[in-house]
Amino acid sequence: MKVLVATEKPFAKVAVDGIRKEVEGAGFELALLEKYTDKKQLLDAVADADAIIIRSDIVDAEVLAAAKQLKIVVRAGAGYDNVDLAAATAAGVCVMNTPGQNSNAVAELAFGLMVYAVRNFYNGTSGTELKGKRLGIHAFGNVGRNVARIAKGFDMEVYAYDAFCPAEVIEKEGVKAVDSAEALYEACNVVSLHIPATAETKNSINYALLNRMPKGALLVNTARKEVINEPEMVKLMEERTDFKYVTDIMPANHAEMLEKFAGRYFATPKKMGAQTAEANINAGIAAARQIVDFIKNGNERFRVNK
Ligand code: 3PG
Repeated sequence: MKVLVATEKPFAKVAVDGIRKEVEGAGFELALLEKYTDKKQLLDAVADADAIIIRSDIVDAEVLAAAKQLKIVVRAGAGYDNVDLAAATAAGVCVMNTPGQNSNAVAELAFGLMVYAVRNFYNGTSGTELKGKRLGIHAFGNVGRNVARIAKGFDMEVYAYDAFCPAEVIEKEGVKAVDSAEALYEACNVVSLHIPATAETKNSINYALLNRMPKGALLVNTARKEVINEPEMVKLMEERTDFKYVTDIMPANHAEMLEKFAGRYFATPKKMGAQTAEANINAGIAAARQIVDFIKNGNERFRVNK
């Protein structure tokens, strides 16, 4: 039984060591494909794999067709928009994620970006503080909950909107639940995005929604670039010179954003939210354990495809 770790953006070594221990401890073989630059390398590597651990690596119909022995793909992380679920189901391949395992790391980075932005990207000028400001958490999943916890330490007023999470659950965490995205953006100085990229959410963060935010607004994106309507973001930031945008997922129009909005826009060169030793260990080892439990016992607890 061969388990392939295919990570264009590698895990910390300590996490790979942990994965190896789980996989070899179960009597399976571990193969590593890290920092690959060409899809062909992935297609070759999956040919004899029974299981694959990935991060944001694309597993599409072509990859699945090349993986003749594949039984399971585990996305070591939260979002699985990089896996073609329908093609996996058609190929009889189980797809799982490892929910919650990297969420603290992402939440901490959201605050790193937030402080960086309100302190004017450390350019020496006088910025503002987070204390007393209204923070809107857009989607109250594992990352959103961690953001709420940390925001309380900053003494922020915390609001959240989640289309699928009942208000009582949000309020139980000491967070004010609002009943629409519009109300959230209208109320908050800072909005932190934690929605997945789905058919419904793609391009949903648009001009009309963002323009509801008060003067001096800041949008922090540690979710997905696809949820932003990029042309409308440009229009908004052209009109609203008070508006700042910081993101951990470089937009397709990065060069244009940099040129037009220098001093109000920042994107990390590579998605860094989950890139900590702790998150790598948590998500990587969880992925390895889920594979072993699936192959040995048929456990499908974290399956995301039908
Ligand atoms: C996730 O969905 O878990 C995060 O976006 C992290 O992605 P990464 O594993 O590519 O860093």
